Amino acid sequence: MHSRVASPAQTHPEAKALSSLKEARLEAKLTLAFGFMSFIPILLVVWAMMYAIPLRIAIYPIVLSAFGGYFLIARPMIHSVLKVIERIRTLSSSHSFELVDTDEHNEIGELARSFNRITQELEHKIDELESSRELVKKLLSRIGTAMNSYEGIDNLLNLVIENTAAALEARMGSLMLVDGEKQELAMKTAWSSNGLAADPHFRVKLGEGVVGWVAKEGRAMRGTCKASSAGFANSRSEEDEVLSVPLKLRDHPIGAITVLREQGARAFVEDDEMLLASIGSQVAVAIENYRLNLDVERTYLETIMALALAVEAKDPYSAGHSKRVGFYATKIGEQMGLDQEMLRTLNDAGVLHDIGKIGIKDEILLKATPLTPDEQKVMQQHPIIGEAIVKPVRSLGKVVSLVRHHHERFDGGGYPSGLKGEAIPLGARILAVADTYDAIVTDRPYRKRLSVDQAKAELTRCAGAQHDPVVIEAFLKVLAEKETRLSAAKDAGHPA
Ligand SMILES: [Fe+2]
Repeated sequence: MHSRVASPAQTHPEAKALSSLKEARLEAKLTLAFGFMSFIPILLVVWAMMYAIPLRIAIYPIVLSAFGGYFLIARPMIHSVLKVIERIRTLSSSHSFELVDTDEHNEIGELARSFNRITQELEHKIDELESSRELVKKLLSRIGTAMNSYEGIDNLLNLVIENTAAALEARMGSLMLVDGEKQELAMKTAWSSNGLAADPHFRVKLGEGVVGWVAKEGRAMRGTCKASSAGFANSRSEEDEVLSVPLKLRDHPIGAITVLREQGARAFVEDDEMLLASIGSQVAVAIENYRLNLDVERTYLETIMALALAVEAKDPYSAGHSKRVGFYATKIGEQMGLDQEMLRTLNDAGVLHDIGKIGIKDEILLKATPLTPDEQKVMQQHPIIGEAIVKPVRSLGKVVSLVRHHHERFDGGGYPSGLKGEAIPLGARILAVADTYDAIVTDRPYRKRLSVDQAKAELTRCAGAQHDPVVIEAFLKVLAEKETRLSAAKDAGHPA
């Protein structure tokens, strides 16, 4: 690892050209003009006096020399200098980049050409500045959009690293976060422009290497380092240009953003560091907000899970109902070959499907006799109330529609939306079957529980009307498999 101190400005070629002009040719011309305008006339006066030549004859060469020196050498030179100065003054007070006329093949022409080269370079630099300003604007706008979206912190960080590295003309970029317990930095996300492999499990001790040092000291670092020490495996060059800035919250480092350019590429400068530090401070705030939101969300989730249990506790007949619905729904999902994420969603939706009952009055909720039409209307609000309770939890995003639609009927006669057939979310169709089955096989205030065989017959009867026949078929298979396991265990003398 090498740190590098910015070197002083190199001598500019234009400055060299101007220096030689000043020292040699311009001085020679001035000397020549002085000679013609004063030295030669004095010599002529001395010559006239020594040889007693009448002044009226000597005056002609004296005047000729003085005029010649002025008109042929001094005046054109002063005129050209004034022209260049006037042009430079005009250009410096305007925003145009017109070039100075360089027809003259003398030192003034050279001065003008030097000025033109400086102007062109300035124009080029301004173009570069304009384009990087555009880039930064675009970058900040994309980051702002991502910060306001609900796609989660991982997408935001990926986007930030990719765009930041591109904006800084870097070949690789990574974002690592401090793991306080282990006193290490762990790779959170990385990006590279040409397929360089980043190790997603890369970790480095705080204080070790460039990134570890930056995260420990809370200070930025510019220099060179091996790409492998920043978590990239197969870099072609031995040492890359590196720029790493800490992510800090209230002066406390929580990670580091690092970008690398290939060896031989332009070294990172202070402007790059300032840009990366500015992005780093925004990312640190975004990470903090995300963590705070996560804490709030976790607390909310724990609260509504407790609420779901509280709803069940009100009604002794429904004790354990929600958990069993989640269990049956997951089994149906497994039978239908659904993925792990969907199975988790089915379990959560099972636990939470009746949470909206918290908003229903006890005299309706706990009524032992059949509900009146008005009471039924109130009761039918529970999926909508449940939807509103679950909706704020971002991690339960897929559960929301299942809670809302778990009382829809396959034939379209259900509530609250009257959806029909496959318009009802598959998870809600599964949940409905699990809910119905558990209601049949458990005691209710108005009837005794039915046997599994009676429940199977009831479900078969409802296929295509209340329930999706495909889901019923899957559930009957689940029950059949359970029966097979039970009888096998019985035969073997073991509990199932
Ligand atoms: Fe329900």
